[in-house]
Amino acid sequence: MDIAGKPYRTIWFEGEGLVKIINQLALPHRFEILELRCFSDALRAIGDMQVRGAGLIGATAAWGMYLAVLEAGEPFGENLARAAETLKALRPTAGNLAWATDRMFKSLSLAVPGERRERARLEAQAISDEDAECCRRIGLHGLGIIEKIAESRETVNVLTHCNAGALAFVDHGSALSPVYTAAERGIKVHVWVDETRPRNQGASLTAWELGQQGIDHDLIADNAGGHLMQHGMVDLVITGADRVTRRGDAANKIGTYLKALAARDNGVPFYVAFPSSSFDFTMEDGLKEIPIEERDSAELRYVWGKNAAGEIEAVQVCPDGSPARNWGFDVTPAPCITALITERGICGPSPEGIRSLYPEQF
Ligand code: MRU
Repeated sequence: MDIAGKPYRTIWFEGEGLVKIINQLALPHRFEILELRCFSDALRAIGDMQVRGAGLIGATAAWGMYLAVLEAGEPFGENLARAAETLKALRPTAGNLAWATDRMFKSLSLAVPGERRERARLEAQAISDEDAECCRRIGLHGLGIIEKIAESRETVNVLTHCNAGALAFVDHGSALSPVYTAAERGIKVHVWVDETRPRNQGASLTAWELGQQGIDHDLIADNAGGHLMQHGMVDLVITGADRVTRRGDAANKIGTYLKALAARDNGVPFYVAFPSSSFDFTMEDGLKEIPIEERDSAELRYVWGKNAAGEIEAVQVCPDGSPARNWGFDVTPAPCITALITERGICGPSPEGIRSLYPEQF
């Protein structure tokens, strides 16, 4: 991803014991880089949402395990297992968190003491690199879908929800990767950006990163998508996913399901783009099985933003003392999804479709 014309990843290894991240809490008003120097820095980064998005949560967990290895005394196995459990409890919905943490733990449990640091570094780097590469490939596979639509339109209008762009991964993004690839190939693409209440990842992150890449876009109210679809203003919807079951049910940011319903009612294709690290092949029925994170009600009761003086502040938008409930994700059932876009290609949202790309998992 280019930021002010300079290529960045969202997380990177800077040197022994030092990992750096882009602080997403400061965006879009300030570009800030933070240092992770110890395991508790990684816990804070994920828990406080300095980093967020399924792929980036996974990569940060991997680097968190690397930092935990530097600190872990004996008994090493027990200490590392405790670190892994602490990490995995932070964000329950994103499948990548457990996937990356377990992969690190498995790799490290085989290492002899003198090899642990180097093995942890190499494995965390591999998880980061694979995440970026999977997202790059998602862009290439999704490109075909956009190219086809562009044959009959001057501009292809994509609607997306939340942020499944480069900021949600190590690089490139999932839902936005086909958009970036199409734009690089000279196709005119315009993105409708759902604001994505309550944390406004669309308004603060998607709009920002699209602007940085020079992609034409408009921010819209969360409730506007159905209206735009009814009026032929959306050619396709592409969202990301935080966890996808073996039959193709997809958990994503709250409100995604409503967009899928509106898309189905209006004959607008609805794609879900994600790397296979977000698959949970142990789960079948997403509605029953995917854990949905319930977050602090303060996220709903207050809105954060820049005031006229340029200072960041929170304002309360509901009556004093109004109770609120804040579910972070919902599940879009497979029948509402046109197709899944993964690093191995495009498939139908069904066990047969998924098996055609991931036979080893069935
Ligand atoms: O709560 P977040 O910001 O970590 O939520 C994750 C998301 O950004 C979205 O659900 C996204 O569309 C899928 S994650 C790539």
